[in-house]
Amino acid sequence: MSRIKLSFSLLVLVFVGISNDVVGVEGLGVNWGTQATHKLPPKVVVQMLKDNGITKVKLFDADASTMSALAGSNIEVMVAIPNDQLLVMNDYDRAKDWVKRNVTVYLFNGGVNIKYVAVGNEPFLASYNNSFVNTTFPALQNIQNALNDAGHGDTIKATVPLNADVYFSPEDNPVPSAGRFRADISSQMTQIVQFLNQNNAPFTVNIYPFLSLYLNSHFPVDYAFFDGAANPIVDNGVQYTNVFDANFDTLVSALKGLGYGNMNILVGEVGWPTDGDRNANVNYAIRFYRGLLPRLAANKGTPLRPGYIEVYLFGLLDEDLKSVAPGNFERHWGIFRYDGQPKFPMDLSGQLQDKYLVGAQNVQYFPAKWCQFNPNAKDLSKLVENINYACTFADCTALGYGSSCNGLDANGNASYAFNMYFQVQNQGDLSCNFQGLAMVTEQNISQANCNFTIQIATSSSMKLLPVAGLYLAALTFLLL
Ligand SMILES: *[C@@H]1O[C@H](CO)[C@@H](O)[C@H](O)[C@H]1NC(C)=O
Ligand SMILES: *[C@@H]1O[C@H](CO)[C@@H](O)[C@H](O)[C@H]1NC(C)=O
Ligand SMILES: *[C@@H]1O[C@H](CO)[C@@H](O)[C@H](O)[C@H]1NC(C)=O
Ligand SMILES: *[C@@H]1O[C@H](CO)[C@@H](O)[C@H](O)[C@H]1NC(C)=O
Ligand SMILES: *[C@@H]1O[C@H](CO)[C@@H](O)[C@H](O)[C@H]1NC(C)=O
Ligand SMILES: *[C@@H]1O[C@H](CO)[C@@H](O)[C@H](O)[C@H]1NC(C)=O
Repeated sequence: MSRIKLSFSLLVLVFVGISNDVVGVEGLGVNWGTQATHKLPPKVVVQMLKDNGITKVKLFDADASTMSALAGSNIEVMVAIPNDQLLVMNDYDRAKDWVKRNVTVYLFNGGVNIKYVAVGNEPFLASYNNSFVNTTFPALQNIQNALNDAGHGDTIKATVPLNADVYFSPEDNPVPSAGRFRADISSQMTQIVQFLNQNNAPFTVNIYPFLSLYLNSHFPVDYAFFDGAANPIVDNGVQYTNVFDANFDTLVSALKGLGYGNMNILVGEVGWPTDGDRNANVNYAIRFYRGLLPRLAANKGTPLRPGYIEVYLFGLLDEDLKSVAPGNFERHWGIFRYDGQPKFPMDLSGQLQDKYLVGAQNVQYFPAKWCQFNPNAKDLSKLVENINYACTFADCTALGYGSSCNGLDANGNASYAFNMYFQVQNQGDLSCNFQGLAMVTEQNISQANCNFTIQIATSSSMKLLPVAGLYLAALTFLLL
């Protein structure tokens, strides 16, 4: 009897031991972006988060409908101030007002569990031409001070999600331990880091192994993932076999250089896109997450920072309105499709049980109707401009080189473009004509590797209806 009891308590101990190690779902967050023509209702998204045990979410604004859907969920939330509002936040009264209207208002019993305010989004990206270098720090200061003045400073921290190119290792010593901040923003970075430290707020960085691969054709592919690399970087006896660790530790070293080597670091974005580039596909995404998630669950950390790291995956859903300036992959970062359905098996608890995540429930779709190239069309002289028109207002990024629909023939290309436009226009009567080059079909014209999708019917998609007017204007233009 006592033996049984003993082994039972051993079992409990072992179990408790494991569950202490395995942060898994508890520690993991996701980025919920909303740059889409057709947005899932926020309540449906919040239910998805709950169904998958996701307990932290990072937003890119503080949209009222999103916030009210999150109210009462107890999900930890990072709200955000977009870059274009950084300048006005340099005025303390405006910052106070922002905090009142976008934070304090939600802090009632049963309200929103706000943990962080993101001040800007990657404001120091080189492609922004220094537009935000002088306004980011004062905005950060004002927002945290406003939070402090309102009595929320102990529980809500302001932080600045920064891109990983704010720091680097010199070419003559390209190892993580040589990390330092970019010289052109070093005074800004010093101010920011000192201020974060004063307020016990985390440093937030976005790390993208995919971009390392995308931006450098000589980048060793294995180094983007977590299953070993042929030529590890050796740094003070430490072997780095993946760019995530090396990148993170370069930041640790840069912080150490400023005297803040122990500052809490939060990974604001990390993930892998599934379309829009030869390296953006489901197989690579599976490989990336199968490496990343078990490490996070086991609190492996990095060589310089073993232990738990707070991480937000990028992203939750595909967003068909995201700018493709960085590349066509931008619209395909979701672990879920545009309609909230999972793309591939993924185990957020890091146990490698290859199950699909729970998809969005009760999603309403438009009828099973597609728009396709009309094979009887005689005059094809305006085909190219009609395809270009469709792709200006709808997402054709899956057609590009290395993407899922790249193998289509010329008619298939036209059908794909016409259908995407037809769906974005909520299958409106006039939106599948294209000067007689297109026709509606009730046959599913999807091909082996290329989905011809049906859009979701949402209240936000109804707001798009006035776009039909735009279409008429453009049609008139085309007819001239
Ligand atoms: C902050 O709240 C105001 C008032 O509700 C709203 O107009 C504004 O869009 C919010 N800001 C953000 C960044 O969502
Ligand atoms: C940055 O500068 C370049 C060259 O001067 C220009 O082409 C680009 O549009 C600018 N980008 C922004 C975001 O201002
Ligand atoms: C930022 O401020 C510095 C110092 O006042 C100034 O030299 C620089 O031109 C400013 N940069 C921009 C982009 O406004
Ligand atoms: C289809 O479109 C893609 C993307 O624009 C292009 O690369 C490809 O060559 C096109 N295929 C044909 C057969 O026209
Ligand atoms: C169309 O066919 C594809 C491929 O077989 C399938 O995945 C998709 O669900 C179908 N769509 C509809 C609306 O039936
Ligand atoms: C097409 O969509 C279906 C869901 O309707 C999904 O199961 C399938 O994997 C998708 N195929 C591609 C190539 O994206």
